[in-house]
Amino acid sequence: MAPSPGSILLSVTGFDPAVWRDEIERAAPGRTVVTEPDGPEDASIHYAVVWKQRPGILNRLPNLKAIFSIGAGVDHIFADPDVPDVPIVRVVADDLTERMSEYVVWQVLDHHRKGPRYRRQQAEKIWHEDRMQPAARDVTVGILGLGVLGLDAARKLAALGFEVAGWSRTAKKIEGVATFAGDDGLDGFLAISDIVVCLLPLTPKTKGILSKPLFAKMKRRGPLGPAVLINAGRGDLQNEADILAALENGWLGAASLDVFQAEPLPETSPLWTHPRVTITPHAAATSVPAALIPPMIAQIESHERGEPLTNLVDRDAGY
Ligand code: NDP
Ligand code: OXD
Repeated sequence: MAPSPGSILLSVTGFDPAVWRDEIERAAPGRTVVTEPDGPEDASIHYAVVWKQRPGILNRLPNLKAIFSIGAGVDHIFADPDVPDVPIVRVVADDLTERMSEYVVWQVLDHHRKGPRYRRQQAEKIWHEDRMQPAARDVTVGILGLGVLGLDAARKLAALGFEVAGWSRTAKKIEGVATFAGDDGLDGFLAISDIVVCLLPLTPKTKGILSKPLFAKMKRRGPLGPAVLINAGRGDLQNEADILAALENGWLGAASLDVFQAEPLPETSPLWTHPRVTITPHAAATSVPAALIPPMIAQIESHERGEPLTNLVDRDAGY
């Protein structure tokens, strides 16, 4: 008789665990899914599927073989200081990538075509065409983070006619994209970007990058006026007090923010009512169980056959 397969621990906060559990059970019939280890140590659990797992929970699993994040980012895993040294797999999936590119293209076009201004005019029944509408080819969209999500957004923006630039940790050559890398490449990237889209992971190196020193180097006089910031990476990449100050002193023309230092964004935040800030509730690219679980289970099954895991996180780099 074949040995029974190891169980899967599901530890998710902020998502409904029942929906994820149903999807795992559908994709892996016969496999036990638990939301709590049994006792102080649970040797039956071989894999963990997590989003903001309860701190310390993974350290109680002596036979844990891999951790699967249900999101592309993994900072939520490392927020727990007790993460065992096993491979961590993150989400790389067309479904998530396409959702993120939809958000990026939506926000870029909204700023490019003066959406915030025309919505204000509509509220006041003002009929006034701003004839200073630049063409997409005259606007450069710079993407901080040229990974899976940044690259797809870059290609879609280029297809719309925008000039596209990108910044990454390691140097890259991408047709149709002006590429910059590392600390030395950041100023050059900012100097040409009319709209800056942040799709960086949150790591010790990137924490707080969207703050006063960076805003001070952004373009002040472009076709859209001062540069626009769009952040769909993580809230702790940004300093919200600095964003508000930069909107006031003319370093930033407008901002679209999907992620925040504290989520949900507190009701007291002045960002909610700022006329040049667009807020979405960490909704740029949601994780959909039916799209993400079947490939996750396929990875578990191939790993059990001795094949290597893919989409692994580099612990030293933190993403
Ligand atoms: P990837 O790991 O594929 O790409 C990350 C990119 O950031 C890479 O280009 C990497 O450079 C670059 N990078 C990392 N550190 C630095 C650094 N110190 N300096 C310069 N560049 C750096 O991640 P994804 O594209 O899949 O996802 C990006 C992030 O998007 C996630 O980590 C998550 O936080 C966020 N996200 C947000 C969602 C939302 O709904 N708001 C949904 C999904 C993801 P290099 O190429 O050289 O490695
Ligand atoms: C992710 C997210 O990291 O949804 O996938 O934020």
